[in-house]
Parts: sequence; structure tokens; C-alpha cells
Amino acid sequence: MKVIYPGSFDPVTFGHLDIIERCSKKFGHVIVAVLNNSSKKGTFSIEERMELLRETTKHLGNIEIDAFSGLLAEYVEKRDCNILIRGLRAVSDFEYEMQMALVNRKLNKDVETLFMVSKGEHVYLSSSIVREIAAYGGNVSCFVPKPVERALRDKFKGGI
Ligand code: COA
Repeated sequence: MKVIYPGSFDPVTFGHLDIIERCSKKFGHVIVAVLNNSSKKGTFSIEERMELLRETTKHLGNIEIDAFSGLLAEYVEKRDCNILIRGLRAVSDFEYEMQMALVNRKLNKDVETLFMVSKGEHVYLSSSIVREIAAYGGNVSCFVPKPVERALRDKFKGGI
């Protein structure tokens, strides 16, 4: 079975990798799809985010890294894969995720969203928290893998 795990991944953290690794064991092919949002300039470019995802998932055999722009419901059709994976960290994620899942199903009736419960140790983790710690020169080694840690150091070496 083929699934799509969409997100911003700016940058990928251990929280995302936990979901990707678990998907890799449960599904035949996992498309990690990076949202290319032209109205929101991220810290990392889409190519940088994709490269960090490639590097940190290269030990897994069935992961494809891709990017998409526009509606997720249309991307799903283009990729001929209508199962979406989303991670749930806490109850606070639920309302937003439920809204997205319902909107996506309204836009494309074949879309199913499956939720995976994040590991307890990742419930507080988010890419923006990691970016903020790195921007102030803090240690992010327990939040992100080595290549991401290096990329964050390079990104913020001149300060914020
Ligand atoms: N562990 C740790 N952190 C996690 C996590 C996990 N398992 N899963 C998500 N996060 C964090 C991310 O790091 C991110 O943190 P940040 O906000 O501090 O940067 C935050 O949770 C949300 O990230 P993400 O999962 O990437 O979701 P998103 O809201 O940025 O993007 C899309 C969600 C891409 C699926 C959605 O915006 C989309 O489909 N856009 C396309 C347009 C569209 O179709 N819109 C209509 C559908 S409603």
C-alpha cells in the first residue's frame, strides 16, 4: 500500500522521523511530500528541506521525497495515492487535523486520512521551536538528526 505523509518539514525533526520510520514498516511505499507554499517563506528552501529528508531517511528503502504546491487533494490525485498520514502529538492537534481531514475529503471523496500517535517524548516538539533554539545558538541535538543540526548551525551562524 502507498501512502502520502505531507507537511512543511522546515526542518525535519525526530518527531517527523519517528512517523516516517513507523510508516516505512507498515506500508509498502511512503511519499513524504513537502508543501511548497509560495506565500510563506520558510527558513530552509524546498530543495534544502528535501535534501535533509533524503539524507535522514536514506537507511529506509521505501521512502520517496517529493514536493507539491496547491491543494493536497489535487496532489493526491496526481500521485494516484489517496491515503494521507498525519501525526498527532496532543489533543490540541486534533481540532486542526480533523478540519483538514474533513476538508480534504470534501474536496476529494476518495481521500482517507490516517492518524498516527506521536511518541510521548515528541509531544512538545515542533520545527519552529527547534529553529528558535538554533537561532539563539542552543543545542538541538536531542531534537533533530546530525545533518539537520549541521544545516541549522550553518543557517544561523551569523546570528538571527
Ligand atoms: N512530531 C513533532 N512535530 C511535528 C510532528 C511530529 N510527529 N508532526 C508535525 N509536527 C510539527 C511541525 O514541525 C510543525 O511545526 P511548526 O508549526 O512549529 O513549524 C507543525 O507540527 C505542523 O507541521 P506540519 O505537519 O508540517 O503541518 P503544516 O500545518 O505545516 O502543513 C499540510 C500541513 C502541508 C498538510 C497542509 O498545510 C496542506 O495540505 N496544505 C496544502 C493546501 C491545502 O490543500 N489546503 C487545504 C487543506 S486544509
